[in-house]
Order: sequence, then C-alpha cells, then structure tokens
Amino acid sequence: MNEPQAEATPQGDMILAMTQTGYSETAARYFLTRPHMGRIENADQVSDFVGSCGDTMTIYLKLDGQMIEDVKYEVMGCAGAISAAMAAVDIIKGKSMDFARNINDGDIFKTLENIPEKKHHCIQLAVKTLHKAIDEYRSK
Ligand code: FES
Repeated sequence: MNEPQAEATPQGDMILAMTQTGYSETAARYFLTRPHMGRIENADQVSDFVGSCGDTMTIYLKLDGQMIEDVKYEVMGCAGAISAAMAAVDIIKGKSMDFARNINDGDIFKTLENIPEKKHHCIQLAVKTLHKAIDEYRSK
C-alpha cells in the first residue's frame, strides 16, 4: 500500500491524521474541502433525512427534465457523512434521476476508496437522503 502523500500544510496535517484513522486521502479531502456543501436557492426539490444516529442531511436538487443539473447537501453530521455526501454528488451530477435512484452504499464507498469501518453506516445517510428526494419529487 502507498503511503499517504499529504502535503506539509495545516490541511495536509489533517489529511494525514484522518488517513491514520482509516480514511483514504480522497475521503479526507472530500471532508476538508466540502466541494458540494450548501444550498441551491431555486432548487426543484429539497428533502431532508434524519439518520438513526440523529445526524441530518438536507439535499437540494436542480433538475433539467429527468437530468440532475446540480446537487448540494447540507450535512449536520460526522466526517464520514460529509465525505459520503460530497462523493455522492460527484457520482450523480449530470446523470439521470433513474441513475441516481439506483446508486447504493457500495458505489459511494468505491468513490471514497476507504473510510473507517464504524463509519460505513454513515454512507447510508447520504444515499437515503438522495433516494427520498427523488421519490418525493416523483410523487408530486
Ligand atoms: Fe451519524 Fe456518521 S455518526 S452519520
């Protein structure tokens, strides 16, 4: 296995610390940079979901017909949940709603490369929030 290549900066220190607790460098960067965190003001669908741990996500979908033009998440949760939500956006942005409705925990885990085993359930929060949003949009 390759040693993590985190650079010598405060963010590099954080990445290194996270890789030592079981996060891949990719997952750590998703957590630290949060590229898809926030709201979409004119979203076509906004849904939230509370996980069994009590953590919460809100998802914003901007749609173009059946295509997902833009996605953002607000996450009140742990590092695993944040990195999973950010990875989910990279998987589904620009894809169809059918594609997004079919993604699962394994797809997100593959994109994250690794997160600690005790955090695997946090991926479900990102998936369930996404699926709920699509179901709610379709039932309107
Ligand atoms: Fe609640 Fe991670 S512990 S989502």
